[in-house]
Amino acid sequence: MPATEAPKTSETVYMKGGGYYSRVNLGMRQVINNSLDLVKAAIDGMDIGGRDRVFGIGDYGSADGGTSHELFRNIIATVRARAPKRPIVVNYNDLPKNDFSALFGMLNEEDDVLGVRSYMRDYDNVYVLASGTSFYRQVFPSESIDFGYSCTALHWLSEKPGSISNHIHAVGAKGNELKAYASQARKDWQTILLHRAAELVPGGKLVFVIFSKDEQGRFLGNTGGVSMFDTSNAIWLKLVDEGVVTKEEYVNVTFPQFYRTTEDFLAPFSDPSSDVNKAGLSLDHIESRVVGCPYADRYRETRDLDSFAPAYVDMYRSWSESTFYNGLSPSRPAEERGRIVDLFYSQYEEEVRRRPDEHSMAHIHHYMLISKAK
Ligand SMILES: C[S@@+](CC[C@H](N)C(=O)[O-])C[C@H]1O[C@@H](n2cnc3c(N)ncnc32)[C@H](O)[C@@H]1O
Repeated sequence: MPATEAPKTSETVYMKGGGYYSRVNLGMRQVINNSLDLVKAAIDGMDIGGRDRVFGIGDYGSADGGTSHELFRNIIATVRARAPKRPIVVNYNDLPKNDFSALFGMLNEEDDVLGVRSYMRDYDNVYVLASGTSFYRQVFPSESIDFGYSCTALHWLSEKPGSISNHIHAVGAKGNELKAYASQARKDWQTILLHRAAELVPGGKLVFVIFSKDEQGRFLGNTGGVSMFDTSNAIWLKLVDEGVVTKEEYVNVTFPQFYRTTEDFLAPFSDPSSDVNKAGLSLDHIESRVVGCPYADRYRETRDLDSFAPAYVDMYRSWSESTFYNGLSPSRPAEERGRIVDLFYSQYEEEVRRRPDEHSMAHIHHYMLISKAK
C-alpha cells in the first residue's frame, strides 16, 4: 500500500491473540489495579440500589479481558453488595480483529483467569456480551451503560493522519506532521466522549486510564534511560540501511497513537459551550500516575538477563507487532513479513542485552473520573 494511503486503525491494530496479550502484560494488570481507588469512588458516588433494572458495565478496548479481570471482579462484588437484585451485564468492546474467543474462553474456564477466579464462577445473574466495533462510533445502546471503563486504549487514534517521515511514532514527529497527529487526537477525544455520553445512563460514570505525556514530558518507555520508541526507530532504520526493509515501508510503520497532555484532556471540559459539556459530561478528577516496569524492576533485583530480555521484548511485541507487520508491503508473502518482524524483535532483544540497565517500560497514564449529569 502506498505510504500516502492511510488505513483505518480498525484494519491494522490487534493485540497478539490466544491469551498471549494478558499473559505477558504484567504491567498492564498493575496499571488497571492501580485505578481501583477511582473506580470505587465512581461506584460509591452512584445511586445504584433500590432498582431491578440491568446494571451495565462497559470495557472499551478490552483486548482479551485478562488484564481487567481482577478489577471487574471487584466491581461486580461492589455492585452486587449494594444492589443484590440487579442483573449485571459486562459489555466488552474491542476492534473486529480482537481475539474475543480467548476472552470468552478465559471467562468460562474452570481454571483461574491469570490467578484470579473467574467472576462467572461465583456470581449468578451476571451476563457477558461483546461488541467488536470501534469505539469511534456508538458501540452500546443509548443509556445502557452505568459504569464505563477503559485502560490503555484511548490513545489509539481512529486513523493514521498521514505518515511520519523521520520516526515510527508521533513522539518523534515534527512540524506539520506533528500538527496532524495533535489535531486528529483532539477530534478523536471529542468523538470518544460524545459516544460515551450517549451510552451512559443519566448519573452514570466513566473511569479512563489513558497513555499520555505527563507534566515532566515523560511517556511510555521514556522515563529515563533509553527511549523505547527511539530505540525501535533506530533498529527499523538500520533494517532499511541493510536493505531488509524499504524506505517506503519504514515510512509506513507509524503507530496510529497520540500521547495527550493534561491540557489536551481538559480542553472539551473547559469550554462551557463545547458539545461535551452540552452532552452533560463533567470531569471530576484527573491526574497522571507512574507505574514502574515490573520486568525491569525484577531484573534490577535478580540480574537474570536471560529471563528479563525475552520477557521484556514479548511484552512490547504483544501490542506493537501488528503495526510493524502491517507497515510492510502486502506484496511480500506473509511468511516473509513474519520473518522481518521476528528479526526486528530479535535485534531489539540484542539491544536490551547490550544495555539492560537502560531499558524499562514504565507506564505513564492519565487517570480520570467523568460523570454524566443526572
Ligand atoms: C494495549 S490494549 C489494552 C487492553 C486492556 N484494556 C489493558 O489495559 O490491558 C489496547 C486495546 O485497544 C483496542 N483498540 C484500539 N483502538 C480501538 C478502537 N478504535 N475501538 C475499540 N478498541 C480499540 C486494541 O485492539 C487493543 O485490544
